[in-house]
Amino acid sequence: MAEKFRFGIVGCGVIGPVHAEAIASLPDAQLVTVVDLDPKKAQKLASQYGATPYTHLQQMLDHERVDVVIICTPSGLHGELACQVMRSGRHVIVEKPMEISREAIDEMLRVQQETGVKLAVISQHRFDPASRQVHDLVEEKAFGRLVLGNAIVPWWRSQEYYDSGDWRGTWKLDGGGVLMNQSIHSIDLLQWLMGPVKSVFGYTDTLVHRMETEDVAVAVLRFTNGALGTIAATTGAYPGVTTHIEIFGDKGSALIENDSLSFLHLARDEKEKVGAYGATPKERKEVVDAGSTSQNPAALSASGHALQIADMIRAIRENGTPIVDGYAARHPVEIILSIYESARICKEVILP
Ligand SMILES: NC(=O)c1ccc[n+]([C@@H]2O[C@H](COP(=O)([O-])OP(=O)(O)OC[C@H]3O[C@@H](n4cnc5c(N)ncnc54)[C@H](O)[C@@H]3O)[C@@H](O)[C@H]2O)c1
Repeated sequence: MAEKFRFGIVGCGVIGPVHAEAIASLPDAQLVTVVDLDPKKAQKLASQYGATPYTHLQQMLDHERVDVVIICTPSGLHGELACQVMRSGRHVIVEKPMEISREAIDEMLRVQQETGVKLAVISQHRFDPASRQVHDLVEEKAFGRLVLGNAIVPWWRSQEYYDSGDWRGTWKLDGGGVLMNQSIHSIDLLQWLMGPVKSVFGYTDTLVHRMETEDVAVAVLRFTNGALGTIAATTGAYPGVTTHIEIFGDKGSALIENDSLSFLHLARDEKEKVGAYGATPKERKEVVDAGSTSQNPAALSASGHALQIADMIRAIRENGTPIVDGYAARHPVEIILSIYESARICKEVILP
């Protein structure tokens, strides 16, 4: 058997262990080292997987034979650490959001071009069977003319969650609140399925938590293809309700609830004629999942992450491009930064 790809993880908090589990589930991947400023966290994760712990990235890069490093630190540190990894000649996978400012993202893209290594950014829900199916149907133009796309994220995070790390809910390191941290997954899916966003108008507020950034946000969107859309998101909706992504066109509609396809109706598959007043969804599946991340950030399955790590291995082997590369990962951040700007100046913002 070919030698396994050797992985390192930087940041052993909530999401670092999910990556460790994902790597362990892949036959051609091996976790060899972990890094955390907190030596106890590094030691704990390292001992579970027989990896070598470090407290500083540079020490690890200087001493370990590693092919791919995964950055799982607070979001505002992603750029600096990812650039350090790329300059050492290793491939890098960065947790979402890619970074929290345009300047930091531009620098990451510049260093990636300069070094020629692979750069991937986690957006694991692009790998869900439901979103892939809807994306394929969009590519086939099965929804006809897209008219409306909505992303609804009515989640709950307690004050203890925000107090559990001094970076959470800060502009400097979280880069925002419910939009930049929790909703970026849904915003990425919405723009991936509906197409690029042309302009946004948003409102944001902080109504429930003691934090700098927003815990509720709404935005109206115009897509470049002429369709309209909305984003409605909060971490103040107790006890947390599942995410909805809704795609509507004049030849079909799809609803993704809690990462699964809960409704799909396409004109091309019709057996009965739809009347002037439309069809009623006959079999909308009830989706109840007490273990979803709408309530608990640690209730994450590692399977989406494993698919994305496997995609990085494929990209290295084929000398290809990861499915979610740095250019793809820039879009949702650009939309979110534009919503923040719109909320600040109370005007529509046209995306660059
Ligand atoms: N894809 C997902 O579904 C998902 C879920 C949760 C978090 N995330 C993302 O993962 C990142 C981390 O989130 P978290 O909830 O795991 O945070 P966390 O606070 O639980 O963990 C971050 C860890 O990074 C360590 N750290 C900080 N600076 C460091 C440095 N310079 N070098 C090494 N270690 C350092 C901290 O000590 C901490 O243990 C964030 O960007 C977040 O947006 C993604």
